[in-house]
Amino acid sequence: MQQNVGLHFTTAIVSTTAILMMVSLPSAWAVQPTHEHAEHSALVLNEGRKWATDLPLRTGMERIRALIAAPPALGLAANIRGQVDFLILNCELAPQADAALHVLLADILEAAAVLQEDAASAPGRARISQSLMRYGEYFDHPGWYVDEMRGPADIANRFQVELAEKLQTAMKSGGPVQAVTVCKDAAPAIASRLSRESGWQVKRVGTRVRNSLTGLPDDWEQLQLADFAERLSAGEPANEIAEFNATVGPRGRTERYMKAIVMGPQCLACHGPRATQAPALRAALDREYPHDAATGYAAGELRGAFSLQRIVLSSASTARAGVER
Ligand code: HEC
Repeated sequence: MQQNVGLHFTTAIVSTTAILMMVSLPSAWAVQPTHEHAEHSALVLNEGRKWATDLPLRTGMERIRALIAAPPALGLAANIRGQVDFLILNCELAPQADAALHVLLADILEAAAVLQEDAASAPGRARISQSLMRYGEYFDHPGWYVDEMRGPADIANRFQVELAEKLQTAMKSGGPVQAVTVCKDAAPAIASRLSRESGWQVKRVGTRVRNSLTGLPDDWEQLQLADFAERLSAGEPANEIAEFNATVGPRGRTERYMKAIVMGPQCLACHGPRATQAPALRAALDREYPHDAATGYAAGELRGAFSLQRIVLSSASTARAGVER
């Protein structure tokens, strides 16, 4: 990568000029990062719907997101410009989608000019994050997220790590039969503690379920699970399969987040084919979960998802909630 920096720089100049011509900005804009964001008016939806994306677009935008999510590093601006060049060279979008994209890219390049001076510049970084957020609002990129997804993603991650530790210890010390009780107690305990601590309602749902009191997906979750299964079979890395969604209703803003849970080999003992389960283990599972449907899975298959939800109350309903409590 390093030896290409010079090359990137040259192409960056070419593409910056190209973008300038497309959005007809004054030629001084690159060194005037504080000018009014007049070009935003040109960012439009496709008759109310998001623009279709292609693989190079999704790849390049994900790389820019990763660059800005990492701690400020030397060469950040050059790397961002390199990704913008990659997008310009490789995306094959319909002309109108391309025009919308160039509005965003112009903004990203403008922010990169600020980051050129100081990779840690808060306004520069915020400007990129804002462009990335707008990208998700105008372009159809399944699983796209920016800052707002990080909170719930961290919580889901903690759930995963804590439960895996508990499960591993229990399997080692007492074998699967004992681990069933650990799973039965630890999973809901971790979920409710994380819920209390974070203000998100945290749970796990399954494509088929063992504990139908907590594990049954609702309509939105079912849709996501179907989508996750498709993404998994299309080869997307399991730990990147997630979705964020926000809707505004009378009470406030409902935010939802889901992250795929994929079967590992260590899960097979309790979620693999029934016929392969030891009789004592099967008996223990049947005792606790007479309607257990969460068997017959293979390693690598979608097992379910972490699912988080919260309502950010609007100020009017906050006042009401205060009275209700
Ligand atoms: C020792 C047996 C055991 C092992 C091993 C195990 N599980 Fe489970 N699993 C359970 C039990 C018991 C429940 C029900 C927990 C409850 O009551 O909340 C469960 C529930 C779940 C659920 C929630 C949905 C549902 O069906 O109720 C998911 C998702 C899940 N397991 C995924 C996994 C994954 C992924 C692994 C491997 C990393 C794994 N499990 C390993 C026993 C096990």
